[in-house]
Amino acid sequence: MPDQPLTIALSKGRILEQTLPLLARAGITPAEDVLSTRKLLVDGTLEGGGSVRFLIIRATDVCTYVEQGAADIGIAGRDSLLESKPHVYEPLDLNIGRCRLCVCGPKALVEAGTPARGSRIRVATKYDRLAADYFLAQGVQAEIIHLYGSMELAPLVGMAERIVDLVETGGTLRANGLIEEITLFDISSRLIVNPASFATQKASILPLIERLRQAVAGQA
Ligand code: PRP
Repeated sequence: MPDQPLTIALSKGRILEQTLPLLARAGITPAEDVLSTRKLLVDGTLEGGGSVRFLIIRATDVCTYVEQGAADIGIAGRDSLLESKPHVYEPLDLNIGRCRLCVCGPKALVEAGTPARGSRIRVATKYDRLAADYFLAQGVQAEIIHLYGSMELAPLVGMAERIVDLVETGGTLRANGLIEEITLFDISSRLIVNPASFATQKASILPLIERLRQAVAGQA
């Protein structure tokens, strides 16, 4: 019996714009324009024969869909993987979505020095675990304020002294009078695979990983 079409979870947003050319080079083609469609489940084809289907979801949900087996494979940011530590395989760095996860704050506060051991600060972030781990290691008592986006606003309205967020061009920080204090992790998008899917659908998943590996190598 032939394998079922593989289900691939893709992140919406700016990562998707970089993902589509990579998929195209790998011969993996959605049947419709996933940048504009409102559909969340989209069929696709593989060059040389075969079909796949795509789930178009939020970046932070890709790990969940793949860990649960609702998607066989996915494209997830290293930031999401570090924060949620899903039980998935991570066979390939796709070298897209490159940015860094940083501690940032208002220029004057950051230039006044890193928070002293034993001091208390408020930190706005969607990376609760990574932020808490970092400040714990610094001996700083951090109150983590969870936000879902636009973290840069929190210091401007006096809600936090620091943020932990992704920085790509630095444009959002500059526009809001913030600067980087420290880079915690370099980030890029990774291919992730559900372990049970890998065990049962190795014959389809291994060639797909190979297609993507060659597409990544071709862009270097
Ligand atoms: C991300 C990130 C920063 C911004 C950094 O947000 O959270 O806000 O991009 O990019 P830059 O350094 O190039 O300015 P995104 O635009 O993805 O939206 P979000 O705030 O909803 O997460």
